[in-house]
Amino acid sequence: MMTPSTRNLDVDLTRLLVRMYDERGFDFRNYKTASLKRRVTKRLNALNILSYNEYFKMLDSDPSEYNRLLSCITIKVSEFFREPEVFEALGPAINAFLPVDEGRTLVKGLRIWCCACANGEEAYTLAILSSELLSPAVLKHTKIFATDIDSEALDVARKAEYREDFLTNVPPELIKKYFIRTGAAYKVKNNLTNLVRFGRHNIVTDRTLTKMHILFCRNLFIYFNKELQEEVFKKLDYALSAGGILVMGRSESLPKQFAHRYVQLESDMSIYRKMD
Ligand SMILES: C[S@@+](CC[C@H](N)C(=O)[O-])C[C@H]1O[C@@H](n2cnc3c(N)ncnc32)[C@H](O)[C@@H]1O
Repeated sequence: MMTPSTRNLDVDLTRLLVRMYDERGFDFRNYKTASLKRRVTKRLNALNILSYNEYFKMLDSDPSEYNRLLSCITIKVSEFFREPEVFEALGPAINAFLPVDEGRTLVKGLRIWCCACANGEEAYTLAILSSELLSPAVLKHTKIFATDIDSEALDVARKAEYREDFLTNVPPELIKKYFIRTGAAYKVKNNLTNLVRFGRHNIVTDRTLTKMHILFCRNLFIYFNKELQEEVFKKLDYALSAGGILVMGRSESLPKQFAHRYVQLESDMSIYRKMD
């Protein structure tokens, strides 16, 4: 196991982060250090590399290692209907977003952004929820944009095949309706995959998407320091239409300076409506 001194580790980690940014534009400089240190050390141990200098040489000779490092640094833990109570609470919030005017919904279709979608579980959960809640006419014009920084994760998401343990929170009738069993795995049916468009997007460095009615950004801010949380929140705020719904992770909340623009819809959950 590599056990460099803490001070050296800080200096080396900073050098590595600057290099990742300069060489590849991957900007992890404002991510929380403790988690980064653990993940990089894990990568070095897996490669049997004993020092950062040795690792820098490897990055020079094999630049594709930058992508593998990115995959190792970012944590992809997720599951279908993660925190099921959030999706239960969302039903009425979504319906309220679709006011009916003389039998016609005022919104043609929803634009939903699943930011930091990892291997796709959350995006397909949103596709299930939309299919269950929306009328066929609104669903036809609904699109879920699912983005992540990690291309490998997006490849898994597009494949849309999951082990049974990722589906623990999915009620059996929904499994039957939206998945096909393929040996040991479950494949998401086309009616859901057709609703979701996956794309590589770095919320720190790329331009934000716009005009979203629902924006999920869960379990990403926990990796950011306070300044980066504020900077990225500006982008989420810009992306969300007035009246839109923002969902963050259980241990995440919106930065204080934005609180006056949002109403928290459930006292114990990070579900907010942006005020008009
Ligand atoms: C723990 S997963 C969250 C998955 C899902 N949102 C959930 O809560 O179950 C965190 C995801 O954030 C992604 N991520 C990290 N930094 C990112 C960035 N700057 N832009 C976009 N995605 C990022 C990682 O690749 C990873 O897939």
